[in-house]
Amino acid sequence: MYRKIIKPLLFSLSIERAHRAVILLLRIIGLIPGGRWLLHKCYAVEHPALEREVFGIRFANPVGVAAGFDRNGEAFRELAAMGFGFVEIGTITPQPQSGNPRPRVFRLPRDRAIIHRIGLANRGLETSIRHLRKPHDGVIVGCNIGKNAATPAENAPADYLKLFRNLYQYADYFTVNISCDNACRDGSTHTREQILRILEPLFDFRRGQNQYRPVMLKVSPDMPDEVVDRVADILLETPLDGIVATNGTYCREGLQTSREALEEIGNGRLGGAPLTRRAVEIVRRIHTRSGGTFPIIGVGGLMTPDDVRAMLDAGADLVQLYTGYIYEGPGLVGEICRALIADEERRRAEAAKAEAEAKAAAAAAPAEASDTAPSKTADAAPGTPLPSPEAAAGSGTNAGNGTAEGAGNAKSADGVSGCGDIPAGHSEKSPETASGTSGEPAIPAGNAPEHPGKQA
Ligand SMILES: Cc1cc2nc3c(=O)[nH]c(=O)nc-3n(C[C@H](O)[C@H](O)[C@H](O)COP(=O)(O)O)c2cc1C
Repeated sequence: MYRKIIKPLLFSLSIERAHRAVILLLRIIGLIPGGRWLLHKCYAVEHPALEREVFGIRFANPVGVAAGFDRNGEAFRELAAMGFGFVEIGTITPQPQSGNPRPRVFRLPRDRAIIHRIGLANRGLETSIRHLRKPHDGVIVGCNIGKNAATPAENAPADYLKLFRNLYQYADYFTVNISCDNACRDGSTHTREQILRILEPLFDFRRGQNQYRPVMLKVSPDMPDEVVDRVADILLETPLDGIVATNGTYCREGLQTSREALEEIGNGRLGGAPLTRRAVEIVRRIHTRSGGTFPIIGVGGLMTPDDVRAMLDAGADLVQLYTGYIYEGPGLVGEICRALIADEERRRAEAAKAEAEAKAAAAAAPAEASDTAPSKTADAAPGTPLPSPEAAAGSGTNAGNGTAEGAGNAKSADGVSGCGDIPAGHSEKSPETASGTSGEPAIPAGNAPEHPGKQA
């Protein structure tokens, strides 16, 4: 239905118009009683094998909506009803901004890709808060935050802090977007000093809260490997919780689209199939360099269940879709979920078979046979069949809005040796003193541990 009817219809419109129409349609469906229930019935796949616990939050499945799709948080509940395990809204900037002149988003059907130079167009903090005041109903919401284009680089930390403070009570986690700035193509804003200037005030503010909100950093795929390593080291040495890798690329190598067409389109970040390899590579590098214990959200060119498998195998804990969703349609999330369930069932069947073979071998060994009592642990064996999706339905719902108190990432005590570098006493900072910016104070101050997971 999507490929035969809806996609040709949407692809006959400009991509921004089509996108606007989809968001509007979702909002209308959300207003109809039972609308979200129907979306859920049609698209969502629930199963215990899909559930993940990442940075202390329980996800019903690991497939999320990438930033840029619901920039203002207008349709996060409807997108979750369409089967996504979480929704990252934004990038939100403090003030509304119109972004770059249109046209600024382009389809490359021959490459199954999209180029965009939206320039973080969004309706600003206040509008996003208005949308986020709606009940979350267990939907896990990430807030992707960025600075206004008009804000000079030296004032960028104040923009990020204002967003963090004011969105703190509405977000389950944050993504700090430093890779979307027009000025940053190759990770040149990814220096330790620049990143820490933005992150430190957020960590200071978080120390004064009684609820923990994980902070992720979104990075560019165009970083040279040594910059990727530097970013991974920041994970090891600071209270940063994880990485979202990656944003779109400026690279145009190996595309099927003609050079003339590309020149006509001009500048912009490219997402979709040509990005898969580099995004997976970056995730693998960060995962390896950081010892494999930090949450990574893998995004970039995930067009099929196999792409998602590759991303998870590279070390991602969660994944996000954007361009793949545009090209493959709303069925893609269910397709990925069913593939992940099948993988898990296969793994369990193989483990059960291996265990049965080991038992048979042990029983056949005459000397041991007389000594060894039959195992009583068969029921608890890894081969225990998974409940069917039908039986699991209803039990696989989100576990709530991630209060995450006592949660945090999976860092071991060894993995956060740099935490001591953070000046002592920051945890006493109150929301009022944490920022010079105006806006409603976030939830009451407490003593949120910097790395709750670390204290376990
Ligand atoms: C039209 C469009 C708008 C986007 N806007 C944002 C944004 O505001 N903030 C952000 O962090 N990423 C943004 N992205 C990047 C995506 O979140 C994603 O990182 C990137 O497109 C790679 O994933 P994909 O290959 O699945 O598209 C945008 C992507 C597209 C195509």
